[in-house]
Amino acid sequence: MSIFEQPIEWDEQLIQRYDLAGPRYTSYPTAPQFQESFSQSSLFRAIVRSNLAHRPLSLYFHIPFCESLCYYCGCNKIVTNNKSRSLPYIQRMIQELSLYADMFDPGKEVQQLHWGGGTPTFISNEEMSLLMNASRRLFTFADDKSGEFAIEIHPGRVSVNTMAHLRQLGFNRVSMGVQDFDERVQKAVNRFNTYEQVAGLTRGLREQRYQSVSMDLIYGLPLQSKQSLQETLQKVIDLEPDRLSLFNYAHMPHLFKSQKLIRDEDLPGPSEKLAMLHFAIETLQNAGYVYIGMDHFAKPDDDLVIAQREGKLQRNFQGYSTHGNCDLLAVGVSSISMIDNVYVQNARDLNSYQQKMDMGLLPIAKGFTLNQEDLLRRFVINRLICYCELSFHEIARAFDINPQQHFRDELQQLHPMITEGLIVIDNSGIKVLNKGRLLIRRVCMVFDEYLQKATNNVMPIRYSKII
Ligand SMILES: C[S@@+](CC[C@H](N)C(=O)[O-])C[C@H]1O[C@@H](n2cnc3c(N)ncnc32)[C@H](O)[C@@H]1O
Ligand code: SF4
Repeated sequence: MSIFEQPIEWDEQLIQRYDLAGPRYTSYPTAPQFQESFSQSSLFRAIVRSNLAHRPLSLYFHIPFCESLCYYCGCNKIVTNNKSRSLPYIQRMIQELSLYADMFDPGKEVQQLHWGGGTPTFISNEEMSLLMNASRRLFTFADDKSGEFAIEIHPGRVSVNTMAHLRQLGFNRVSMGVQDFDERVQKAVNRFNTYEQVAGLTRGLREQRYQSVSMDLIYGLPLQSKQSLQETLQKVIDLEPDRLSLFNYAHMPHLFKSQKLIRDEDLPGPSEKLAMLHFAIETLQNAGYVYIGMDHFAKPDDDLVIAQREGKLQRNFQGYSTHGNCDLLAVGVSSISMIDNVYVQNARDLNSYQQKMDMGLLPIAKGFTLNQEDLLRRFVINRLICYCELSFHEIARAFDINPQQHFRDELQQLHPMITEGLIVIDNSGIKVLNKGRLLIRRVCMVFDEYLQKATNNVMPIRYSKII
């Protein structure tokens, strides 16, 4: 039985000892390393290399608008009831996309599409058609069978009719934020979606032949208890989503002002949070879900589990994803592209984004070009985070190095984790053991050159706790 199918081994003391703040490695290097001095010519060269390699594309659109403010939210969003704000924004996203379409090989296939937010269904059905038709005009899309075309939805804010419209436009996957069904918790975070709404919508999505339904839950929210989480989990399991994300509530009011509206005394304490996580993982595994890693669960026959088994999984800004062979082109405010050896991030605020577009410029604010050492470390972190193991032979072949020599200091640093039973290291490589799975970030952090170099090794306050 692979480590992913085994029930998680819970060692509370070990978890408490290793539970420091740390990055989630949705990219390496992580976004704080991106530089304003980044030269766009590096991006253009990366696109040329992407074309020469005939790598397919993954497209991401960031639609930041939301009709109401969920107090816990750490996403890049704009809360407004003014529906007229979306059209000018969509027009600029189309303009941005067309600038890129001129640079990419027209034969390049879009194998993945993701509309994220904010709340992408804030925009009208006509605006959805406008954006999707423009995307199809500018790029070549894979067919419904092989392509993954996903949208994030807020189940309290979307109708079955709109979902039917989106299905017609080609969407075949849905990710919905459920967070918690408990009314008291919902009130404390100003986020409302009833079980009936979620159940009705899920039924509708199945009838409309969406291929996959994923649900987001958060643990550690105000007024949440093990008991309330148990009830939410049971309801969610009854609805049989194909995938589940269980996020640790990242409470960082110094970064996200709306979190100040959450009363400290309502937040569950660290030991209560740990009990919730332990219980949730056990419950989901008992219900037949595979724990992919880092907050993500999926049914055993889901593409994500298959990709993990077949070595085709990748870590990206959505968490885990199949289609690891794609370059990612992301448009819209704050979005991050990953093309060949380059990351670029767009302006984070709407005004700067729109101004740049109006000047006919790419709205890039920051970027990063990975050197050979970064590429090697990205590979190592990806392998560990996706498969819980690293083969020295594989890295030696791919990067023409002697990994045991190259990572001598890192392997030394990992020694206490061997003693604690989190990992094993032998001549063939590193294996993360069952007990170490929840602490995988700690293993990855050892290979993060930028973190290691950070002054005094003090973790910047932008990172939340690991668990
Ligand atoms: C962009 S939102 C999802 C789409 C949609 N706006 C919604 O709320 O349903 C992505 C997910 O991030 C998670 N999230 C947002 N803020 C968070 C925080 N502070 N800590 C942990 N998870 C958070 C939520 O589970 C949310 O569903
Ligand atoms: S959780 Fe979703 S709906 Fe709520 S504010 Fe954040 S992005 Fe908007």
